[in-house]
Amino acid sequence: MPGSKQPVAAIIGWPVSHSLSPRLHNYWLSEYGLPGEYERMPVEPAHLAQAIKELPGTGMRGVNLTIPHKEAVIPLLDEVDAVAKSIGAVNTIIIDRGRMRGTNTDAYGFLANIRPHLPASRKKAVVLGAGGAAKAVCHALLEAGFTEIQVTNRTFARAQELAAAFGKKLSAKEWDTRANLLEGADLLVNTTSLGMAGKEPLELALDALPRHALVTDIVYVPLVTPLLTQAEKRGNPIVDGLGMLLHQAVPAFEAWFGIRPEVTPQLRRHILEGRA
Ligand code: ATR
Repeated sequence: MPGSKQPVAAIIGWPVSHSLSPRLHNYWLSEYGLPGEYERMPVEPAHLAQAIKELPGTGMRGVNLTIPHKEAVIPLLDEVDAVAKSIGAVNTIIIDRGRMRGTNTDAYGFLANIRPHLPASRKKAVVLGAGGAAKAVCHALLEAGFTEIQVTNRTFARAQELAAAFGKKLSAKEWDTRANLLEGADLLVNTTSLGMAGKEPLELALDALPRHALVTDIVYVPLVTPLLTQAEKRGNPIVDGLGMLLHQAVPAFEAWFGIRPEVTPQLRRHILEGRA
């Protein structure tokens, strides 16, 4: 069909070559018989403002943003919704009649991925890390009803800042105390880059963690991180991080194209093949 490869959406990042989002959205575009293509847009930080300004003229329905643009893009938009404001980052822009609205679907993606596996008791969660991903995770945990969220981070000041921004249910804890924090936890989340292929390992003894506690990692390379292997061995339920990537794309695709796409085992296999 002529023009069927028209860009209809894209991911803007620097670098952007490793992103799995094109493979994911193009799978759905084809699955639902929609024309056009989801593209990669490498944009260096100095050119972000110009690239964003030009978006409404491209005919695209919207874009995703990745490192290092999620925060820098905020002042460049016409509107930023409450979720993105609370997380302090925009990962999705929706273009509607020339206006650009920013939102953040990472918290949704995190929660949708773990929701079917959450234990009945949802009181205490321990979050490792205090970067951008941790903010989305904390937003999601509050929404899921957790009442005590302990954030521990190598740089304590970042944990304090995050805890202060999200209110009384959160508290900041020193990184050295992380193994002790696990006592009584219903959920353990790793949002640091530790355990990722090529990065340093995450050193954490799980002895204090109750067996019913769900353990999840937002790292998905490797798919089953050493933390998840360690947790599974002692009988804890685990959820890998790939599902967060798949689920965060659902509301974006729906907002752009009016179809709520499905996260299926076939999609997961397709993405894993692309990653290999
Ligand atoms: P993102 O926005 O993707 O979460 P980030 O802001 O760079 O990325 O955060 C990475 C997280 O991994 C941070 O919590 C970081 O801790 P610092 O705030 O102290 O930098 C954590 N991290 C990275 N390398 C680490 C290491 N060697 N030991 C402990 N934590 C580490």
